[in-house]
Amino acid sequence: MSDLRPRHRPSRKVRQRRTIVIFSAVGILVIGALVAAIVVLSPHGEPEAAPSSTPKPTPTKTPTPTPTPTPTPTFNKTLYSIDDPNSIWVVADKLRQLNPADWEPPDLVEVPVTYVNQPFMRQVASDAVVQMFAAFTSETGLSMASQSAYRSYGSQQDVYAGWVASLGQEAADLTSARPGFSEHQTGLSIDISADPANCSLDQCFADTPQGQWLAANAWRFGFVLRYPNGYTQITGYEFEPWHYRYVGPELATELHNTGVMTLEEFFGLPPAPTYAN
Ligand code: DAL
Ligand code: ZN
Repeated sequence: MSDLRPRHRPSRKVRQRRTIVIFSAVGILVIGALVAAIVVLSPHGEPEAAPSSTPKPTPTKTPTPTPTPTPTPTFNKTLYSIDDPNSIWVVADKLRQLNPADWEPPDLVEVPVTYVNQPFMRQVASDAVVQMFAAFTSETGLSMASQSAYRSYGSQQDVYAGWVASLGQEAADLTSARPGFSEHQTGLSIDISADPANCSLDQCFADTPQGQWLAANAWRFGFVLRYPNGYTQITGYEFEPWHYRYVGPELATELHNTGVMTLEEFFGLPPAPTYAN
């Protein structure tokens, strides 16, 4: 006989548990399917695509700034006096006697270089001569000597008188300054010779290695060739390639750079070919 008894109905609690289990299973399945779909659809295995790069903005050209012109410093021509005999810029010529005429420099020192006549100059000029002679020797292997440097009013009287006696006054005035008018009296000028002597106090000194080097380099040490060739109508003297005048590196460099050949032209002074009387 078959068992006709109604089947045993699970208790409510059991039914609830079953429902929970079923829903959980369905939920797990749904979540699993979603995960699988995502995994399948994603381009796995391939490197992550580089994020599309934001186009780099074309750099705007920085406008080239207009260079501010560096102002060329104007050379101050009035920095030192050209009248005061103490000044390294004092200008002595046939129209500009030293004042006082018998002026003596306060700081004469013996110039420690090879010489013909024992040289004295103002300290600053002496130091520059020593440097210049040393540079000449180190650059050429040759030597120079001081021929004549400071001359007092009294010794210039003797020198000028000697020239007048041998050449007459007119020719002497083209070669030698009258006392009180000579740059040698300032303690800033020097006559330079080759050592051993070659063309001393002669225009052919210009062609010696010493004369050539001095013409090209003396400005570096603060010296100017005071009586250049072809400027007799301005300076009052014939070409003296041996006579150098200390004016300091600033002025010597300015004269070198501008190509101005005489102190008269540079300072706007009148040409001084002859004495006023
Ligand atoms: N020889 C130059 C001009 C002087 O006597 O001063
Ligand atoms: Zn001289």
